[in-house]
Amino acid sequence: MKAAVINAFGDTDQIEIVDIPRPAPQPDEVLVRVRAAAVNPKDTFIRKGYLKKYTGSDFPMLSGFDFAGEVAEVGAEAEAPAVGTAVYGMLDGWEGKTCAEYMAVKAHQLAVMPAELSFEEAAALPLVCSTALQALRDQAGIKPGQTVCINGAAGGVGSAAVRIAKILGAEVTGIASAGNHDFLRDLGADHCVDYNVEDITASEHRFDIFFDVFGNQPFDHVKPILKPKGVWVSTVLQSHVFKSVEATKDSPGKKAQLVIVAAHRGDLDQIRAWVEAGQLKPVIHATYPLEGIRDAHAQQETKHTRGKLVIRID
Ligand SMILES: NC(=O)c1ccc[n+]([C@@H]2O[C@H](COP(=O)([O-])OP(=O)(O)OC[C@H]3O[C@@H](n4cnc5c(N)ncnc54)[C@H](OP(=O)(O)O)[C@@H]3O)[C@@H](O)[C@H]2O)c1
Repeated sequence: MKAAVINAFGDTDQIEIVDIPRPAPQPDEVLVRVRAAAVNPKDTFIRKGYLKKYTGSDFPMLSGFDFAGEVAEVGAEAEAPAVGTAVYGMLDGWEGKTCAEYMAVKAHQLAVMPAELSFEEAAALPLVCSTALQALRDQAGIKPGQTVCINGAAGGVGSAAVRIAKILGAEVTGIASAGNHDFLRDLGADHCVDYNVEDITASEHRFDIFFDVFGNQPFDHVKPILKPKGVWVSTVLQSHVFKSVEATKDSPGKKAQLVIVAAHRGDLDQIRAWVEAGQLKPVIHATYPLEGIRDAHAQQETKHTRGKLVIRID
């Protein structure tokens, strides 16, 4: 089967499309014929070796965490939809492998795909929507009527977070460059802030939740604009985040949290329900054939992608 592999830590030219044997599923796994995958910043960090302490250094390394495709085989102990069912999902952990014609996954990492979506559209949803949902619901305890600020609102996680915060009844402020403000309003943002013009942390705004998706607004900067019981949630595995989480863990007031996304079939089912109800839509910046994966990584590294980058696997 065709698969994208990383041959060594480095630039995009370390990614290559090769022929490798099709994996055989373990008894608790499902073999999926992947029709589309998506690229995330994590894929580029892994390729560059930034996450070496989690990934190890065994090459060649497969790549990719999001997928949509069809069930090709179900392991004897796996609870999964029947062979031929269209499914979508995301991988836990640090071992990517979805940019390949076939991959074997644990059954909890997939769910039935939203009806009416193409494989490309479905692959744009799992990791970013699960991250946004888990950050807002589980880490921040979002409630209807709360004020929520999303920093990095136009990207993959941010655009999902704007929609999901609106679905959950919040008043949403999105931070992005001015060229993305119409896009944010279309997603439902109530207010838009241009980070080139306004320093939100020096403003009169006050938030119940500040979701620092982009990762450049530390808790100590944001604390003054949090309401007394406000929650700051970060996506980045950096020491200042771990310190803030530890320092505020018993605080009755303002708290710092870190989201680490995990695959849950229940969340994928919730995302599907919102899509099928017309409340949530995939946002795709560009789609590439598997052979164009180097270009997709390069685009991801610009840090100015609007929504998702999808890989089509014919
Ligand atoms: N912990 C977890 O479980 C988890 C899960 C998913 C993602 N993440 C992390 O979350 C981060 C974001 O992921 P993503 O997929 O959303 O990335 P992304 O799609 O690459 O984000 C791109 C967006 O960042 C915005 N941006 C660029 N400079 C900015 C600035 N100075 N201030 C505010 N926004 C800015 C851009 O908007 P403009 O073009 O308007 O500038 C662009 O739309 C990454 O570090 C990723 O690794 C962590």
